Amino acid sequence: MFSRELLRSFKNIQTPFYYYDLDLLRNTLKTLSKELDTKSFKVHYAIKANANNIILEIIKNHGLGIDAVSGNEIKKSLEIGYSNKDIVFAGVGKTDVDINYAINNEIACFNCESVEELEVINTLSLKLNKTSNVSLRLNPNIVSDTHKKITTGTEKNKFGIDINDLHNVLIKMNDLSNLKLSGIHFHLGSQIGNINVFKKLSQIANKTNKRIYEYGILLNHINVGGGLSIDYLNPQKNPLSNFKDYFNIYKENIKLMKNQKLYFELGRSLVGQSGFLISKVLFTKKSYKRNYIILDAGMSELMRPSLYNSYHKILNITSREMINKKYDVVGPLCESSDVFIKNLKLPTSKRGDLFCIYSSGAYGETMSSNYNLRNNIKSYFSDSI
Ligand code: LLP
Repeated sequence: MFSRELLRSFKNIQTPFYYYDLDLLRNTLKTLSKELDTKSFKVHYAIKANANNIILEIIKNHGLGIDAVSGNEIKKSLEIGYSNKDIVFAGVGKTDVDINYAINNEIACFNCESVEELEVINTLSLKLNKTSNVSLRLNPNIVSDTHKKITTGTEKNKFGIDINDLHNVLIKMNDLSNLKLSGIHFHLGSQIGNINVFKKLSQIANKTNKRIYEYGILLNHINVGGGLSIDYLNPQKNPLSNFKDYFNIYKENIKLMKNQKLYFELGRSLVGQSGFLISKVLFTKKSYKRNYIILDAGMSELMRPSLYNSYHKILNITSREMINKKYDVVGPLCESSDVFIKNLKLPTSKRGDLFCIYSSGAYGETMSSNYNLRNNIKSYFSDSI
C-alpha cells in the first residue's frame, strides 16, 4: 500500500497518470541478474512492454539488451545509449524503411518470420553493401496456457516460419549471400503461467539446433523469446516473477554447443508490477440495480481489460472504510467495453476518491491511445515525486 506521504503527493497531480515504483523495478532487475547467473544467458528487454526513458535507462544499467519491433523502438534504444550490438529486431511485418535503418545501424540480429522477409533483407543489405545477421523465427506449434489473443507459437498464429519448412529455408539461405544465419528464435506467447511448456520448447530448440549443425552451420545463439507471467491476482504479495524456476528449466534442458548463447526476450515480468495507473472517481451512479464508479481513466489509458478481459487488482486508495458495496468500475469513454471490472467489492466510493489499478507497468502506457481525442497520459516516478 502507498504511504500517507505518497498519497498526499498523488492528490496534487492531475489524474489520470502512471506511477512507477523504481525501487521495485531495480529489485526485479537485481533478482533477474542473480537468478540468471550464467555467462551463456543474455536477456533482451522487450521494449514494447514499456518504453519510458527512465525505465529504459535503469534496464540498460543492469546490462540488458533490447528486443525491438519497429525502427522507432531501435532509434529510441540507440538514443538511450544501448549498443547496436545489443539490439535484436523482431516483427512479422518489418517495413523497408525500418529494415534499412536497422541495416545501417548494424544491429545484432533480425528475427525473420518468412522467406520473403529474408529475401528483402538480403536485397536491401546488398544495396547497402552490408552483411546482416539473421535468426529464423520458427513457429513450433506448441500450445501454452495463456489467453488466446496473446498466444503466438501455434499453427493458428501468424507468427514465425512453419518449423516443418526448415529444410527448404536452409537451402534457400544458400542463395542469400548478404545474410549470415546466426540464430533460431521462438516465442510461445505472453503471460505464460505454467512454465513446464518451456521444457518442451527447450527440447524442440535442441533438436533444431542439432539439425542445423548437420547442415554445417554452428549457430551463434538460440533465442527462446519471453512470456514469463506476473501475478495479477496478488501483486502486493508476489511483486516478483518466478525467475529462479524459469531459468532453471532452461539450465536443465537447453543443450548449448560451443560458445553458443541463450537469448531471452522478457518484457512483462521485468516492468509489469512496477507500474500503477492512478485515477480519480468522476461520478458514481446506480442504474438498473448496478452501482457504477466512473473513473477518469479508461481503455485509452489501459486497454488490457477491454481488449483481453484481463484482470487487474483495483483499490480505492482514498477511503479506509470497510468494504461494503459491489461496483462496476468503468472508464469515461464512449464504448461499452470501456470497463475495468464488474461486481467488485469496494468501500463506499465517492466523487474525488483516488483509485489505483495495479500491475499496469507492462503494455499499459505503451498501448495507450488518444481515442476520443483524449490527452496523452503522463508518468511520474518514485525517485522524483
Ligand atoms: N518476444 C516477442 C517476439 C514478443 O512478441 C513478445 C511479446 C515478447 C518477446 C515479450 O513477451 P513478455 O515477456 O512480455 O510476455 N499486449 C499484450 C501482450 C502482447 C505481447 C506481445 N509480444 C498484453 O497486454 O498482455
